Amino acid sequence: MRIGIFGGTFDPIHKGHIDVASAVFNAAGLDRVIFMPTGDPPHKVHRNVTPGILRLQMVQAAIRETGNPKFSVSDMEIRRNGYTYTVDTLRSLHAQDPDGEYVWIIGADVLADLKHWKDYHQVFRLCSFVAMYRPGYSREDFRTEYMELTREGARIQFAEVPSVDISSTEIRSGCEAGRNMDGWLPGSVAEIIRENGLYQRDKHKNLETAAQELQNRLSPSRYAHSIGVMEEAMRIGRKVGVPEDKCAWAGLLHDGAREFTKAQYAWLGLEGDNGALLHAKASEILAATRYGVEDPDILEAIACHTTGKPGMGTLAQILFVADYTEAGREGPHFDKVRDVLNREGLLPAVLAECEMTIAHLEEQGKPICQDTKDTRDWARGKLQE
Ligand SMILES: [Fe+2]
Ligand SMILES: [Fe+2]
Repeated sequence: MRIGIFGGTFDPIHKGHIDVASAVFNAAGLDRVIFMPTGDPPHKVHRNVTPGILRLQMVQAAIRETGNPKFSVSDMEIRRNGYTYTVDTLRSLHAQDPDGEYVWIIGADVLADLKHWKDYHQVFRLCSFVAMYRPGYSREDFRTEYMELTREGARIQFAEVPSVDISSTEIRSGCEAGRNMDGWLPGSVAEIIRENGLYQRDKHKNLETAAQELQNRLSPSRYAHSIGVMEEAMRIGRKVGVPEDKCAWAGLLHDGAREFTKAQYAWLGLEGDNGALLHAKASEILAATRYGVEDPDILEAIACHTTGKPGMGTLAQILFVADYTEAGREGPHFDKVRDVLNREGLLPAVLAECEMTIAHLEEQGKPICQDTKDTRDWARGKLQE
């Protein structure tokens, strides 16, 4: 079984990708092609790549639309957060299917780079390559690289593929400029782009517009809570020296997806019944895609506001605590965190909140999220330093 692996960011996948995959499938005598969207880049090098879950969803929709049973999608790299090395992906693939013969699909221009891949000798053992080139080129153009790599043990075949007149970059900028790019996209992908407001010029909303939109999206009590958290986060931010606008955005948007239905969560690739946990990740996605938030601190804060996270940044701590101490929250739990916040400061309040959440869940016999326990231990350790 010769299995082609077609990796890429797929931001978004377009008809050119499908044409190329079909051409390689035939030219290289493959039995299957697995599309493998890359994981989200680590926050530090974030260049505003669409969240993996949405890129995955677009690829899945596109493949479904082809109706080609030889094509499938793997979420292996998306599920593994951060940058993934090809060698690790290949090891996982072999572990899953030891008899599979893997063929890594690359552009012929990538040949020159192969020797910079991590553990490339290992890569050469675990897969062969099919190097694609466009009409107008020939394998002779890549002879030097070919000779050098085969000496090192690489197995390389070539395939001519049709030239593609579009790129994902052009589709993104076309959408941003308000042009209709549907002709280049599978219909279901165009729909996902529209539904999620991806690649839109005016997605960088100001706080006021965002608040208005949110008011339409949320119930009155949830909206009031969001405004309360926004104000409280700004107040804490002033005390600990975090810019007000960062606090405002994190507070305003932190529960943006809190009232999603199970189907809506599933639509974002988030599975499970626990909306109390799912909404943090979903709200992060919403903040990035619908409201154009790119600041990694704000996205981190929203993503971990329910459970906390060891090593969480100051803004994340502010949001975590403000969610409990905003003016609308009433009850002894909340008073206790307020008290610790005012007397001892932010990190002690994070610790107090974790301890109380854990005690509360234990009392009710409910499962306790590992992240919350880890955050408690982390905060405890930090305070003892
Ligand atoms: Fe929340
Ligand atoms: Fe909240």
